[in-house]
Amino acid sequence: MPLPLVHANGAAIPPIGLGTSQLLGDTCIEAVSTALRAGYRFIDTAARYENEEAVGQGLRVSGVPRAEIFLLTKVYWTMLAAADFERSTEDSLKRLGVSEVDCLLIHWPNPKVPLAETVAALNKMQRRGLTRHVGIANFTAALIDEAVKLSDAPLVVNQCEYHPYLDQAKVLGPCRKHGLAFMSYSPLRQAAAGGPLEDTVIARIAAEKGVSAAQVILRWHIQQPGVIAIPRSANPQRIAQNIALEGFSLSDGEMASISALARPDGRKVKPAHSPQWD
Ligand SMILES: NC(=O)c1ccc[n+]([C@@H]2O[C@H](COP(=O)([O-])OP(=O)(O)OC[C@H]3O[C@@H](n4cnc5c(N)ncnc54)[C@H](OP(=O)(O)O)[C@@H]3O)[C@@H](O)[C@H]2O)c1
Repeated sequence: MPLPLVHANGAAIPPIGLGTSQLLGDTCIEAVSTALRAGYRFIDTAARYENEEAVGQGLRVSGVPRAEIFLLTKVYWTMLAAADFERSTEDSLKRLGVSEVDCLLIHWPNPKVPLAETVAALNKMQRRGLTRHVGIANFTAALIDEAVKLSDAPLVVNQCEYHPYLDQAKVLGPCRKHGLAFMSYSPLRQAAAGGPLEDTVIARIAAEKGVSAAQVILRWHIQQPGVIAIPRSANPQRIAQNIALEGFSLSDGEMASISALARPDGRKVKPAHSPQWD
């Protein structure tokens, strides 16, 4: 039984996608095709990951019809001026070997380019038929409000870091208010040492349910209304495990005890070009 789709402003998005950052060449082809054969129907990539050709090959190797796959790519923050944005999108489609993607995101905000210009370029990509849906990533509450006002096309998603060690209530609120799905990146906090995968609260819940810590964390993500997670793995067993989330559920108390693990220093992804986080 596939997990129910998340509906957001006209888009229907699988609640689990395969993250692909750092997956290159044959490793990426293999991971993407393995995931699709294991039942994934959503692949997340970006121009910045330098793996769009491999992602495209993985789609074709899998044998899964293109129409069944939700394919998402992003335009990097250095390419947000209108002409650059258009070129980046066209180049992504060429590398992926597709005529359109299912969702195109602004990868990071860039205060040096007027948001109105970038959002207009994003809308143009949809009008040109290069993407079915549009969205944003790493946008703060204030930037979400601004982008929603500027966009003719409904934004369907804001992709941001989220896991049990990072409270994102201030971003989830505006996403829900405007009907955007919240897409959790680094949903396992990159499996970093001392992170939620090693947390004793999560380990206890996992042992009680006979599932892995990763499955508990991913179930916690997708049990929250409008939340989607995109775990990355290059390991076939873990790829399969990360989508096997329908055989158990978390009680309200378990959800709350996992959310209570959030800590002020929980954020993992904080490059110099980050916005002022909420
Ligand atoms: N929009 C943005 O700015 C942005 C930023 C960061 C990430 N992203 C997207 O989000 C995706 C996911 O985030 P991420 O790659 O940073 O980190 P992540 O998915 O939280 O963690 C990936 C790590 O977890 C391990 N792992 C996966 N499944 C596991 C399991 N079941 N048990 C134990 N370990 C497991 C993987 O190792 P193995 O491969 O060995 O399984 C890998 O080392 C990215 O790949 C990318 O597509 C977007």
